[in-house]
Amino acid sequence: MSEKLKPAARVSRQKQDVWSVVNEAAAASPVQPIVNMGQGFFGYNPPEFILNAAKQALDRVECNQYSPTKGRPRLKKALSDAYAPHWGRKLDPDTEITITTGANEGMLSAFMAFIEPGDEVIVFEPFFDQYISNIEMPGGKVVYVPMRPPADGDHKTLSAGEWTIDFDCLEKAITPRTKMLVLNTPHNPVGKVCNREELQRIADLCVKHQIIILSDEVYDRLFYVPFTRIATLSPEVEAITLTVGSAGKNFYATGWRVGWLMGPPSLIQYVSAAHTRICYSSVSPLQEACAIGFEQADSQGFWSACITDMQSKMKRFTTVFDELGIPYSEPEGGYFVMANFAKVKLPEGYPFPPHVAERPRDFKLAWFLIRELGVAAIPPSEFYTEENAHVVENYLRFAVCKPDEVLEDAKERLRGLKKYIEG
Ligand SMILES: Cc1ncc(COP(=O)(O)O)c(C=O)c1O
Repeated sequence: MSEKLKPAARVSRQKQDVWSVVNEAAAASPVQPIVNMGQGFFGYNPPEFILNAAKQALDRVECNQYSPTKGRPRLKKALSDAYAPHWGRKLDPDTEITITTGANEGMLSAFMAFIEPGDEVIVFEPFFDQYISNIEMPGGKVVYVPMRPPADGDHKTLSAGEWTIDFDCLEKAITPRTKMLVLNTPHNPVGKVCNREELQRIADLCVKHQIIILSDEVYDRLFYVPFTRIATLSPEVEAITLTVGSAGKNFYATGWRVGWLMGPPSLIQYVSAAHTRICYSSVSPLQEACAIGFEQADSQGFWSACITDMQSKMKRFTTVFDELGIPYSEPEGGYFVMANFAKVKLPEGYPFPPHVAERPRDFKLAWFLIRELGVAAIPPSEFYTEENAHVVENYLRFAVCKPDEVLEDAKERLRGLKKYIEG
């Protein structure tokens, strides 16, 4: 190929992502159909009132055309109203909220807005994989700080809150070039909700060193313990924090691609400026539907139903691990559960293909579950650097946002692990 036709390093250097590895393995598995608990999309529809709002929006001329680049006024007002009880005040819909094409594009816009080549961004491991490429695109350097599972996680089911942030490492990671820190609570994949004290320690460091906090709170309606938003700790913290939200996660509609960033006008205006140049504006009819979703969610009892329903799915699914004696991290939020398969003995000489054999043990576990039981889960070492991948080599991540019958099917299949469990 001619040199001039070659792709840029930022895409050509990327190795095969975990989603492709798992999806390709699932498609080729002898056990079909696969029960796919890998990727975090919902196995059911948004509630009727939100679906109807979307259908009706499609009939309106102005909903099928460009929206203002910062988002539809009705959605921004609905967000301001919906977040007011959590924020302690109403955010200004014009200057403190900007709508984006999902949380992903919102975060890319934030990095594009503030990162110059060589600037450093602190990311906790395990991380949501999209952060990394989004930081690197404007030339940022990712600096990793590990979160560690509980020491006895191999043999005990414990709260996901027992995963700890290495604060020594965090302090050491800060340099004069540290421009941003990415926080994710409730956390994917761990299920941890950072407590107030942890948030305060992170916030104090960021205020001291004037580091922008990008707080990814896309699972903010799914918490099973008290949930604090870092931006609400103090005016000083609010002044340096961009909070990220996602209608996809809130309304069971990950394909709608509606998200938002909230924060002080001094930060939000530049996120909007980047967003304008990336995609100009976001999907109009679905912004309108999300506005109606936020307007009606409380009166429909939707937010409380979200929590009850997801908790009941979590409970339903994890009983199989209790039966098998497989420990897991009991989620404090979100819809992922990390189970620890240290006790599962993979058969000697099992034929793993080279691209799996060379990866950490969690990839082998994932491959084995797909091929032998027909259940797909995600190997979380993908969300660590190579250096720290061993930390989660016994874990697999399962998404429980699936219909109950799918969860029951998965449980039945997982019972097939019994013969591979030691002791
Ligand atoms: C932690 C986290 N942040 C952001 C996103 C992306 O959200 P969106 O679909 O709104 O782009 C996801 C999706 O899985 C996620 O898990």
